[in-house]
Formats: sequence, C-alpha cells, structure tokens
Amino acid sequence: MKRHYNFDKVISRDANSGSYSIKWQGFEDKFPGYDVRGALGMWIADMDFLCPSEVIAAVKKRAEHGIYGYISPDAVEAFKEAAAGWFERRYNYRVPTDWMLFISGVVPSINAAILEFTEPTDGVIIQNPVYYPFSDSIINCGRTIINNQLIENNGFYTMDLNGLEELAKDPKTKLIILCNPHNPVGRVWTEDELYQAGKICSDNGVLIFSDEIHADFIMKGHKFVTAGKLSSEISENLIISFAPSKTFNIAGLAASLIVIPDKAIREKLEKRMNINNYPAPNVFAPIAGEAAYLYGDNYVDELIDYIEKNFDYVIEYLKENLPAIEMKKPEGTYLGWVDFRKTGINHKEIYSIVLEKAKLAVDLGEWFGTGGEDFLRFNFACPRTTVETAMERLKVAFQNL
Ligand SMILES: Cc1ncc(COP(=O)(O)O)c(C=O)c1O
Repeated sequence: MKRHYNFDKVISRDANSGSYSIKWQGFEDKFPGYDVRGALGMWIADMDFLCPSEVIAAVKKRAEHGIYGYISPDAVEAFKEAAAGWFERRYNYRVPTDWMLFISGVVPSINAAILEFTEPTDGVIIQNPVYYPFSDSIINCGRTIINNQLIENNGFYTMDLNGLEELAKDPKTKLIILCNPHNPVGRVWTEDELYQAGKICSDNGVLIFSDEIHADFIMKGHKFVTAGKLSSEISENLIISFAPSKTFNIAGLAASLIVIPDKAIREKLEKRMNINNYPAPNVFAPIAGEAAYLYGDNYVDELIDYIEKNFDYVIEYLKENLPAIEMKKPEGTYLGWVDFRKTGINHKEIYSIVLEKAKLAVDLGEWFGTGGEDFLRFNFACPRTTVETAMERLKVAFQNL
C-alpha cells in the first residue's frame, strides 16, 4: 500500500509541547498509589498521530477567521450530511440526517439515555470487562449496574446470551449499553451475535444503547455490523452512538452523533438533552467532523493497516521474549488487552511492575470490572518506535521474575 500518512513520525505531546494532552501531561493523579512520573503514555484512548490534513486545514481556516461566536445550525447539518455519506460508504448503512442528534460526546449521550429511559431503582445491563465510564454513568445517575459477564475462553470473549435473557426478563431492567467493537476485549460482534442479543432485549422491553465509537477500527478478516442494520424491530428499540473522535483523533474537539431511528425515542432524548443543557457545539467541532467524514477514507485505511502491524509486532515480541504475557489479536479498536495470568504473579504486583518499573502508563484491568483484574489495556495507536520502547521496557522489568 502506498502511504500518504507518516504514522512513524513521533510528535511530542509532553508538557513542553503546549498541547495539554492528558495522556502525557498531568496524568499522575489518574493512577493513585503508583509512581508513574515519566511513564510512556499508553492509556487513555486517543492517538499519538496527526489527524487528516484536511481536518487540520479546516480547523486552521476557521481559527483564522478570528471571531468565535455562536454557530449556525447549518454547520451541524453539514456535519450530519458528511456523516451520512461515511455511514453509507463504510458501513453500508443509510441514515437520514433527521435521525441524528449532535452531542459533544458519547458519555454525555449515555448519561442522557439513562436519565431519560430509566427510573432511579432500575437496572442497566453492561457486559464486563468493559469501558469503565459505563459503570460510572450508571452509578452517577443512581441506577443499578446489572452485569452480564462476558464469557472468556482462552482469551476469546463471547456474550452470555442465556445470561442476558435471564437478566432482560426482570421488569426492573430497562436499558443495555452494548459496546461494538468491544473496548477493551477487542471483539467485533458478528451480525448473528448482535441479532440474538438485540432480539432478546427488544422482546423483553430493554432499550438498546449501542456505543459504536470504535466502528472504524476493524482489522482484516472482520466485518463491522451496526446495530442499526439488524432488523426493523430492533431499530425501533435502539439508540446508536457514533463519533469521528477516535477515528480521526479529534476527541478534544468534542463532536459526536446519536442516531435514533424511532421518532418518539429521538424526541424524548432530544428533550432530555435540552433539559440537561448540554452545550451547543463549539465552533470547531462540526467543521472538523465534516472534513473528517468527507475526506478521511484514505487516512483510516492506512491507519488501520499501521495499527494492525503494531498488534502483529507486539504479539510476536511477546511470544519470543515474554511467553507468559499474551495478547490475542484484537478484531477491532486500537487497544491491546494484555493477559498476565500465566506469569502467576498477583495482579497488584503486576500493576506496580508495569507502571512503576517498566514506566508504562496503561489502563489497569481492574478498572474494567470483574474479569479484568489480571489484564492491562495498552493503547497501540502510536508510532512503532513507541511500541518497541514499551516492549523493551516490559522485557527488562520482567527479566528476573
Ligand atoms: C467505548 C467508548 N465509548 C466512549 C468513549 C468516550 O467517548 P466521549 O469522549 O465521546 O465521551 C470511549 C473513549 O475511550 C470509548 O472507548
């Protein structure tokens, strides 16, 4: 593949860069009890790559205008139209723009859905191990976490559909938060798995919130299917959340889209968002999102190829040098779910070896809930040299153990 983007290029994001990147600066408080000063930033899910040149140009052009007053709904409409084109080209999913709502982030949309569609003592299903802000949102909203634990078999994860059916039957269970692709275990759910899960929820009156923020990171041999394409019955019981933030590395610009096929659900959520008084888009958000969705195809194709090679490198390196540490190749996302069980070392000690001795700031497996304890989540959306340094540090840290 002839590359246009140089993902090997190392771009500083440290305190001297003036970029205020939480991944690299001021992150120490996120790791209480561990001394992570000077650690390599491989935790929170943003990338150490430049975003597409067209996005940078669009933001620069808008910045140079010099007046940053309230923006017109036309900007959001243009973003939605560009997104509709992307969804059709990339996921073969046709979405009228009037099914879409703009919101600053996926987590705010989860909060709004919990508040609008559940009552204080109701249950919300998640499937651990999973992206931990799901639990935070449920707890913050005063609802009950209902965990349908993923089934793990030799590092490969599936949904417990029987367990899901049991939990969904409880009349107090009102909502499920699906994650597809699933952060952190890297599964890209198949159409069949999704259909079965979706049908169980719809048959039992459990509203589906499908977080598809990682939809664009799909490795070779796997196919992303949006929950919006499963059946008309499921679509009538569905909220989907998409965003250009992960895909094009623009999380700091705060742009995402909620897609809701059903008019009544859409209107209720929109009203809730108004009551919650979520901010209007900042001037750069829809403009960057529009440029990304209009011009980002090549960028994403090259990016996925690069990330996949990072995964391959890590898997080979671990096999050769640290056979007790394993990583199954993710089907999707740019996150590696690294398995330390075969080291036989207690997980708290593993965390301190990796964070303090190897000086790698990575997400602790226990953050992702039950079943995550003996794992660490590495963010491999970074230049190969960073990955190489991380692997070398890991090797040294575990050498005499
Ligand atoms: C599954 C998942 N959902 C949501 C988010 C965050 O979305 P936002 O920053 O738009 O709230 C992340 C970020 O890592 C994520 O991995």
